[in-house]
Amino acid sequence: MNNLNYHVSNVLVIGSGAAGLRTAIAAREKGVDVVIVGKRLRRDAHTVLAAGGINASLGTVDPQDSWQQHFVDTVQDGYFLNHPHMVEEMVRQAPRAIADLVDYGVPFARKHDGQLDQRFFGAHTNRRTCYAGDWTGRAIIFGLADRVETLKIPIHENRYVTRLLVDDGQCFGALTFDIHSGERTVYLADSVILAAGGHTRLWRRSSSRRDENTGDGMYLALDAGTELADMELVQFHPTGMVAPESIAGTLVTEAVRGEGGRLFNALGERYMARYDSERMELSTRDRVALANYTEIIAGRGGPNGGVFLDISHREKSYIIEKLPRMYRQFLEHQLLDISQEAMEVAPTAHYSMGGVVVDPVTQVTRVRGLYAAGEVTSGLHGANRLGGNSLAETVVFGRIAGEQAADFALEIPGQHRSNPVIRAANEDIDQMIKEGTEMARPLQREIRDIMWHDCGVMRDGERLADGLDRLEIVKEAAQHVDVRPSSEGYHDLALAFDLRSALTAAEATVRSALARKESRGAHQRTDYPESDDRYLVNFVLFLNRDGAQEIWERPVLPIPTELQAWFEKSDELEVAGRLLE
Ligand code: FUM
Repeated sequence: MNNLNYHVSNVLVIGSGAAGLRTAIAAREKGVDVVIVGKRLRRDAHTVLAAGGINASLGTVDPQDSWQQHFVDTVQDGYFLNHPHMVEEMVRQAPRAIADLVDYGVPFARKHDGQLDQRFFGAHTNRRTCYAGDWTGRAIIFGLADRVETLKIPIHENRYVTRLLVDDGQCFGALTFDIHSGERTVYLADSVILAAGGHTRLWRRSSSRRDENTGDGMYLALDAGTELADMELVQFHPTGMVAPESIAGTLVTEAVRGEGGRLFNALGERYMARYDSERMELSTRDRVALANYTEIIAGRGGPNGGVFLDISHREKSYIIEKLPRMYRQFLEHQLLDISQEAMEVAPTAHYSMGGVVVDPVTQVTRVRGLYAAGEVTSGLHGANRLGGNSLAETVVFGRIAGEQAADFALEIPGQHRSNPVIRAANEDIDQMIKEGTEMARPLQREIRDIMWHDCGVMRDGERLADGLDRLEIVKEAAQHVDVRPSSEGYHDLALAFDLRSALTAAEATVRSALARKESRGAHQRTDYPESDDRYLVNFVLFLNRDGAQEIWERPVLPIPTELQAWFEKSDELEVAGRLLE
């Protein structure tokens, strides 16, 4: 092990997106020593792509809003698969989370009276989405990163985490290599927080960039002995770009519809009237995605296989103020002025609603000392996530995980360590570096095609089973991947590890999708088109003693009694007309 460097801290945070940065701030503010490792550059984690906004029931625009109504919207439109305690925690804490972000200098849009502005987002009863143009995620990352710098928390960039170090049921760190130099570092810590994102880059059309959201967080957690839940519940955002092919899938923010954008098919029909005549374009994401998909496969799509999203009835200056990134994105990539012409869009894999099982109060996993926060976790969103709830999730649960991990570090008598565990992790990297007959990139592409075709917007048992078989073939080929570090660095090694993670996350997703023999929210099966109350369960997946994936069913918890009356009230709420401008 003389090729290893060591770094010691109280708390190790894996991931430098919004969840990771927020956990680090919370832990540091408790007085412990923290380090953040990330595989991308600082201020460039996936969160920078989050566009439209972050939710909290502030009532600055719709004063009747309340955390209880936010709870109802989240659970109702999550089709009752959400963990109710997690939802309650999120909706209660979101206003405080926004106040923290304001303190860190995040430049949210404000009304004339100085209060924070809140915009419409799909399926919310009231306006509760705070925003900074359509680059809200970037604004939040920059605010958090400024605070991280003020607190002098180090961020180690370009570090690829290959394994969480676990001994005797306790996580005591992680092994990493530097993607440029190959230098290996053992991060020893009292507690570890996983904030490494989701797995939606595993679909052919994805709103994630290359090499992010590759399922590595989920792989690390499962390998460490935790459980994953709801892996089949993958959100397809209704509107991704369709051209040029090199960036197909890139997000076209829901804020376009929140600001009045309308969807049309090639016949000029405003077809949402057929799918949700009350909420129209601001229906739930799963419904709008399904509507777009249906129009496209029914042959009513445009020349690039998309439908049309039109905001050109708005003033150009309004569009540039509210949707500056979208304006530029289409101009730069398609020479299209969205204030004049409609955008062509189609569904794109956007968000992992499933992930690591955590305690809803402490964010701890089944492994002592291992916490998780953000998209890598499961529980909050159920079968359909409301837009804007993910950024709220990162900062609400980021704070909680950071505080809890810090408390754990302050309470344990001493740092755990196991040389055999470190040695085994080091050998795992050695074994990955070898000459072989396969290349990682084409195999990754194969997985993306399988997931898009066999486990996409519409699923059925036959295609899912076929997808599982095809993943097995890729798994076999992945044993022979050629990994040669060169003067270009250790990118091939990162790709090989990403491939391993992707295979695990993809298999977990397909297995869970096979188990859920119903249609609910984002999980639509043509062979089981109805929702079935027998499936008011979460599918929880773990590795058995042979390292094979197994699933058990966990019934969802009932809605707390004091909140039940809000659901009845919600039925009476008049939403028609209010959600559309
Ligand atoms: O469309 C969007 O701006 C996405 C927001 C979200 O996923 O929360």
